Amino acid sequence: MTTLFVPKEDAPGERRVAATPASVAKLVSSGLTVQVQRGAGAHARYDDAAYEEAGAAIVDAGAVADAQLVARVAPPSVEDVRALAEGTVLLSFTAPHRNLEMVTAMAERRVTSLAMELVPRISRAQAIDALSSQANIAGYRAVITAAYELDKYFPLFMTAAGTIRPATVVVLGAGVAGLQAVATARRLGAIVKVSDIRAAAKEEVASLGATFIDIPQEEDLTGEGGYAKEVGEDFLARQRRILTENLTGAHAVITTAAIPGRPAPRLLTTEMVEAMPAGAVVIDLAAADGGNCELTDLAGPVDHDGVRILPGHLLPSEMPREASSVYANNIVAFLALLVSDGELTVDLDDEVVAGSLLTHDGEVVNERIAELVAGGNA
Ligand code: NAI
Repeated sequence: MTTLFVPKEDAPGERRVAATPASVAKLVSSGLTVQVQRGAGAHARYDDAAYEEAGAAIVDAGAVADAQLVARVAPPSVEDVRALAEGTVLLSFTAPHRNLEMVTAMAERRVTSLAMELVPRISRAQAIDALSSQANIAGYRAVITAAYELDKYFPLFMTAAGTIRPATVVVLGAGVAGLQAVATARRLGAIVKVSDIRAAAKEEVASLGATFIDIPQEEDLTGEGGYAKEVGEDFLARQRRILTENLTGAHAVITTAAIPGRPAPRLLTTEMVEAMPAGAVVIDLAAADGGNCELTDLAGPVDHDGVRILPGHLLPSEMPREASSVYANNIVAFLALLVSDGELTVDLDDEVVAGSLLTHDGEVVNERIAELVAGGNA
């Protein structure tokens, strides 16, 4: 029998949980013994009794040491890793490039870690793709937050008392979060302008009724797996110049640009923020990776000359019930590849498992992260 442990998340601001009562029922029927830490679902309004009814046992934190499998949301701390039994299989976001010491601790503990951010973006893994499930929520919530923070309507209003012009929203990065932000802002009636460096983004943006901000460039900057390539300083300088022209009339800017495993590109300088009208708001979804805006502060909102810059890394956690529900479904889909009749097998020949593998058998197996660890950055 394999025991899966689901902890109560304790990272600052983390309100999500890796299992819901509905996902527990599916996991139990796949033959797993499921243990949920007391109060794990409290922020997401999943109570202990509902987990028990679904077939889980409610346990204290120490039970993690007896589990063979652990599913969590936020990257574990070094202490969390040390509390695991040797050889535990862990499914979690890990943000490995920012947590090299923790990655080393996982290797030392012989943890088999499957990193949710490394899951290959292939059709077979779509149901496991937690980056997308959470990015969708972040994109939606970013626009709702911007609409709330602005002292201005999003839609056009023509009334007997006068006409109110719609808000202009600029979205930087048209990936999963960015496209959801575009769609949400359009639904609210805003004028939306978008910048991205992948050629495919232009058509997707147009299909949502937004305008694409063209930055002249010779090559398509789409990299491996449909992600963006890291671009040079000259491109970024050209992009900043053209963006500045579009920012003078922007009421809200949602930044979502990311390069997987690397610091976020700096797209908004202080000077560019100063070009925006007072009262405008910037929501920076790339805050955890250093931010797309140089004024972003992970600790909270910054007011710069009347423009407010809000870090957006916790947006999915602000909708913990739904964010947990889709994340828990991602975990169930991942475990379907690993568990059969309650037996746990990590098949390293499976493309999804191999692609997601971060540490195994005492080694850091992801090449890029192994290089960072070896480079003494741990
Ligand atoms: P992401 O979170 O890594 O990046 C967000 C966006 O920022 C991307 O569209 C990227 O091109 C853009 N970006 C990077 N540098 C930029 C810069 N300097 N200026 C402006 N924009 C910049 O991306 P996300 O949301 O994870 O997805 C990106 C792509 O990955 C998708 O559009 C798709 O091609 C692929 N994908 C494939 C999936 C599948 O096959 N199952 C699922 C989800 C995404």
